[in-house]
Amino acid sequence: MSKKIIIAIDGFSSCGKSTMAKALAKKLNYNFIDTGAMYRAITLYFIRNNVRLDEAASVVNALENIHLHFELDPATEKSDIFLNNENVAQYIREMTIAQKVSEVAAIKAVRVFAVKQQQQMGKKKGIVMDGRDIGTVVFPNAELKIFMTADIAVRVKRRFLEMEAQNQHINIEDVMHNLQMRDYIDSNREESPLRRADDARMLDNSDLTPDKQLELALKWVEEVLEHTYSSSK
Ligand code: DC
Repeated sequence: MSKKIIIAIDGFSSCGKSTMAKALAKKLNYNFIDTGAMYRAITLYFIRNNVRLDEAASVVNALENIHLHFELDPATEKSDIFLNNENVAQYIREMTIAQKVSEVAAIKAVRVFAVKQQQQMGKKKGIVMDGRDIGTVVFPNAELKIFMTADIAVRVKRRFLEMEAQNQHINIEDVMHNLQMRDYIDSNREESPLRRADDARMLDNSDLTPDKQLELALKWVEEVLEHTYSSSK
């Protein structure tokens, strides 16, 4: 039996979840799934096809026409998301998507659609998945759950620099406003709101370098592996 676990990482937007999930997956040779990218790709499809979010039938019909998959680009070592076989990784980070994605992700049919695929991806374990409901809804039995937080000022600065690096010139107040709005919608929606699972370990990375937080997470992985597999040997 291979000693593999499921690692669920949740937290607010721009807390460094993906950075950590990616680094952990690389180190452990696990698959990394950025579930936010799935909600963003669905949002892109809805915008392109003028899907009315308040019409349940239109939403369900649109979902039937969406196929999502991830592909690892060996050159960049990034896992890109494909929407109906089109690589949309570069489009899903735009502000137009950021402004609409929380609204789309709050729709029950959208969540059912995404969660089903996410659970399928974790069947063989050996996966690091980041999102908002991974430890609470997608994998409530994940062996390791991490809930990440960081100061709002740190998060705004990170997201701002990320967008600048992608040549998206936007003012910092707009970034702040967008993050606050998404925090609010993600935490207060009826369907699977963002919350820390009771058994999730807290990781505040406001003052941690990516290397330090990886070190901490790897220590947790070791503890969990020891605990999960020591009795079954
Ligand atoms: O992680 P991100 O910023 O790329 O996520 C985009 C949006 O998708 C975020 O505002 C909330 C939503 N989301 C969600 O509801 N559930 C998830 N598992 C992942 C993301």
